[in-house]
Amino acid sequence: MSELHSVAAQMVAKGKGILAADESIPTCTKRFESINTESNEQSRNFYRNMLFTSDNIAEYINGIILFDETFHQKELKTDTLFPQYLESKNILPGIKVDGGLQSFNNHPEEKVTVGLDRLDKKLSRYYSLGARFAKWRSVITLGNGIPSDGCIQANAEGLAKYALLCQQANLVPIVEPEVLMDGNHTIDISFDVTDRTLSAVFSQLEKHNVDLQGIVLKPNMVLSGYNCENQASVEEVAQKTLECLTNNVPSSVPGIAFLSGGQSDELATLHLNEMNKQDTNWKVTFSYGRALQQNALNTWAGKSENVKAAQEALLSRAKANSLATTASL
Ligand code: G3H
Repeated sequence: MSELHSVAAQMVAKGKGILAADESIPTCTKRFESINTESNEQSRNFYRNMLFTSDNIAEYINGIILFDETFHQKELKTDTLFPQYLESKNILPGIKVDGGLQSFNNHPEEKVTVGLDRLDKKLSRYYSLGARFAKWRSVITLGNGIPSDGCIQANAEGLAKYALLCQQANLVPIVEPEVLMDGNHTIDISFDVTDRTLSAVFSQLEKHNVDLQGIVLKPNMVLSGYNCENQASVEEVAQKTLECLTNNVPSSVPGIAFLSGGQSDELATLHLNEMNKQDTNWKVTFSYGRALQQNALNTWAGKSENVKAAQEALLSRAKANSLATTASL
């Protein structure tokens, strides 16, 4: 099996998932503000160190997505760079490589992800420093008359170009087309927009000759908009999400690792568990940021005496989601 195929298979292995800890500096600062903690290089290093050194985290987590700053920081006890530290724990190090969002066609709400310039050089360097997979996130916003087909296409094309460059650098691309669930739209509207988005993404991946066995898809679940009066049940979310994925995702893709997208921790786990009650063409797991970290962040509250309890909070979410990958909750 090629390195790409075996890394992709490892990333979606049953019983395990991916921790997204790749918040950019502004996003991390926002999270730290919520717990009245100063965000600086040192405090961010401390926080990531706390998460990654949780006892036996590798029982539930087989990959961690890092932000560039963290990628070059060290595990504090052993003074080992994080990529090598994670590798020593059997956790694949990943790296966020997109350059963030820009306005699409001067629309006030539509965005396109940028960062393709000199990406090939960046990717080879990350590989040589120990990264084994990468992440690029596109964002599709729902609203009055949006998303436009143009915005979906531009994002799909960016994802495909990024994915091909990753594979040429021996990195497995996490392909993340996120349809945001903010708004009062129904689950059926989420379904339609997710369907349009995934259809565009897979036609661009095929057009660019991306090897589908060497990617991991990181989509949103199909949910009712967060402000919709009528919130779909766990069963309906699982059924509609799987239907939408089955319509669009070829069975050559080894696995799907969902983002949590602002759902509560518990719902993100229950939805995953429900989906895993069905037979699917691909492995179905998690690549959560907030749904794994929120409780740990609040428990930590920036105080070193809370580290142990915060690590336990992370492990408890990681374990619940690990069980959800085999519908064992
Ligand atoms: O790009 C987004 C993260 O990788 C996933 O974060 O689970 O908080 O949506 P989330």
